[in-house]
Amino acid sequence: MEAITSTAIALFAGAYDTVASYFALVPYLLATNPEVQTKIQEELDEAFERTGASGVLGYHDIERLEYLEMVMSETMRRYPIGLSTRACTEDCDIEGTLAVVIFTQNIHPLLIGQIYCNAGIPIKKGMEVHINIAGIHTDPDIFPNPEEFVPERFSKEEKAKRNP
Ligand code: HEM
Repeated sequence: MEAITSTAIALFAGAYDTVASYFALVPYLLATNPEVQTKIQEELDEAFERTGASGVLGYHDIERLEYLEMVMSETMRRYPIGLSTRACTEDCDIEGTLAVVIFTQNIHPLLIGQIYCNAGIPIKKGMEVHINIAGIHTDPDIFPNPEEFVPERFSKEEKAKRNP
């Protein structure tokens, strides 16, 4: 029974709520960025024209909707949902960065992040490391003017310029 409950909660939080949130966020961002909405409309119009009489988009037609994919990626950059957590398996020391926050059982996580962020971060075996996804997504060195909604950041050319 516990396994069923935990699986149901995991699916609800991990699969249902994430997707539902983006179904709300994408229309919101399109409404507040009408020039993006127009470009998507044009891409879809062209895609439907290519379908001819059938008027139905197939899998391969959807694959070709590159601008729509860029919009989805930029939406997830602008409003990241979800966590990325890893358990450290051996002692190590990484260069200082605001991208990680370390949790221990006894010390406030943000405090640890602030103490070590300029001096290199020693991570001990057994610690949990929570990746600060929002911090990476709003780092102006990676995404200039991070508050702006710019799907072109995810064009093939722009993606190739970034270190994945
Ligand atoms: C826009 C929607 C979604 C977002 C933003 C999202 C985000 C994430 C994130 C951040 C992780 C953790 C990755 C990590 O540990 O580094 C994750 C893991 C996972 N997600 Fe999603 N997710 C989405 C939709 C879904 C859906 C629809 C399903 C299943 C139907 C799903 C199933 C999973 C599973 C099984 C894992 C664990 C993978 C593993 O640990 O190897 N996710 N997701």
